[in-house]
Amino acid sequence: MTTIFPKWTNKLPTIIAVGLLGALVCTIWAVWYYATHDYTRVGYMPKQPIDFSHQVHVGQLGMDCRYCHTGVEDSYVANIPSAASCMNCHTVADQLSGYLRAASSLDGQTASAHWNNQNLMLVRAAYDSGRAIEWRRVHKVPDYAHFSHSAHLRAGVSCYSCHARIDEMPVVYQAESLSMGWCLDCHRNPEKHLVDTSQVSLTNLHAVEAMLASADQRERGRTLRDRRRLDPPQHCGACHY
Ligand code: HEC
Ligand code: HEC
Ligand code: HEC
Ligand code: HEC
Ligand code: HEC
Repeated sequence: MTTIFPKWTNKLPTIIAVGLLGALVCTIWAVWYYATHDYTRVGYMPKQPIDFSHQVHVGQLGMDCRYCHTGVEDSYVANIPSAASCMNCHTVADQLSGYLRAASSLDGQTASAHWNNQNLMLVRAAYDSGRAIEWRRVHKVPDYAHFSHSAHLRAGVSCYSCHARIDEMPVVYQAESLSMGWCLDCHRNPEKHLVDTSQVSLTNLHAVEAMLASADQRERGRTLRDRRRLDPPQHCGACHY
């Protein structure tokens, strides 16, 4: 007897069923992934090897971001300071003079409390050994997308628009999703985020926040956009190359 269908076709329904199930699982996963992953990254706050506080150093002591993040205006990366820049203040000599005076006026602690402070011991140990402090990376876009700090600062976009009030954070966390949609949202309407740098510094987050929230920001943003001839790119090749 001749068969119209070869024998292996008996398994076809099973193969189709398994295939359909696989496709269904993939779809559910994809929907779940895209619906949630923007949100799950916001708030990311890894435990750091040393309790370094931006709230103390920027908020209370008034240090400028660029003292530590030296690359931010001139290059793609902002860079994280080495233990040597911490030691500009946290050395014995400075402990006994400037640093300690500032410290005790801030929280009234005694000299020995600061000298024996666990976190400062780790900073000194790193400096003495020459090994880098292994800070854990918080913000990261994937390697296939390119982001440059200097281009954004030149355009008059403040750290505040992308990193929120770092000066109020005892521990750094990610405030924005850094997703493609987030980048493009601002590229389509950058006016809300353009700072008049003749009025406030881009690194004075408190003043920037107030200016961007003021009623005349839309008008000011439009003027700044025209004057600076800004045209944030939306074509794929600008960020993916
Ligand atoms: C005294 C030095 C110092 C100053 C001043 C300083 N930072 Fe930092 N910053 C650090 C160090 C050290 C880290 C790494 C440890 C951490 O994440 O807390 C860091 C981390 C960060 C990160 C997260 C980096 C990552 O891994 O994604 C951001 C964003 C940042 N700083 C922004 C700012 C901004 C904005 C200002 C100014 C308002 C500022 N910093 C001022 C030392 C400094
Ligand atoms: C411009 C001077 C200066 C620089 C630079 C500086 N600090 Fe500080 N730091 C201070 C002062 C002043 C205090 C005291 C504030 C307090 O105790 O409330 C302090 C406090 C601290 C504390 C808390 C100590 C305590 O008694 O609880 C740590 C930890 C610390 N700094 C780490 C660092 C690290 C890490 C760096 C480098 C990334 C750094 N500092 C750079 C001035 C500085
Ligand atoms: C337009 C948005 C934007 C602005 C404005 C911005 N940042 Fe960032 N920042 C990012 C993104 C996105 C990353 C992750 C970059 C990557 O993975 O290559 C980042 C990463 C960082 C890091 C981690 C190390 C590095 O260089 O990648 C530091 C530190 C930092 N920013 C500090 C600052 C400071 C300080 C300012 C203001 C002077 C600032 N940023 C302004 C978006 C911004
Ligand atoms: C808060 C607003 C804002 C956000 C958020 C933002 N950008 Fe921009 N971007 C701008 C502005 C403004 C310019 C300047 C356009 C000009 O100079 O004409 C710009 C310019 C650029 C440029 C062209 C300049 C260059 O590097 O050659 C690239 C690429 C870019 N952005 C990538 C990104 C990426 C990637 C992200 C997200 C991770 C991002 N941007 C998030 C506002 C923003
Ligand atoms: C302003 C910068 C920018 C532009 C313009 C841009 N992208 Fe992206 N794209 C990104 C960033 C940043 C990510 C990483 C998002 C993340 O980490 O979730 C990304 C991620 C992606 C992904 C990975 C999937 C995803 O959504 O996470 C694809 C695919 C992609 N981009 C395609 C494109 C195409 C196609 C275009 C042109 C229509 C384009 N991009 C234009 C910044 C950009």
